[in-house]
Amino acid sequence: MSIGRLNHVGVATPSIDDSVRLYRDVLGATRIHDRFAMPEQGVWVCFVDLPNSQIELIEPYGEASPIHGFLAKNPKGGQHHLCFEVPDIIAARDEMRAKGCTILGTGEPRIGAHGTPIIFVHPKDMGGVLVELMESPKALHA
Ligand code: CO
Repeated sequence: MSIGRLNHVGVATPSIDDSVRLYRDVLGATRIHDRFAMPEQGVWVCFVDLPNSQIELIEPYGEASPIHGFLAKNPKGGQHHLCFEVPDIIAARDEMRAKGCTILGTGEPRIGAHGTPIIFVHPKDMGGVLVELMESPKALHA
């Protein structure tokens, strides 16, 4: 297990439109991607590019969205997860499990918003932080 670069910070929001106004008009972000839906994960996603990382704005998509609970506790939204890159998602998952960490869901990687496999590690094992591990895009290794 070797933690890689911080790929993005996930920020839950009740309104991507409002959050885009914040990042663009107040903070001066200049590269903000179009939003897109990930229905199978119950979220709308919008990436804000920063010089060294990204903010991933996530808004609930549908009644069964997994972030409704988070927004019930944090009505204005808030920091939801950190995403670190790893070279090999299966190797990372197996090693995290061997070290006693709980992988959310079935533990089988699914395809994340960047098109590479991801897993989530339970915050109880991560100092209270929900951690997403994402296999680095292969182009970065080439
Ligand atoms: Co994420």
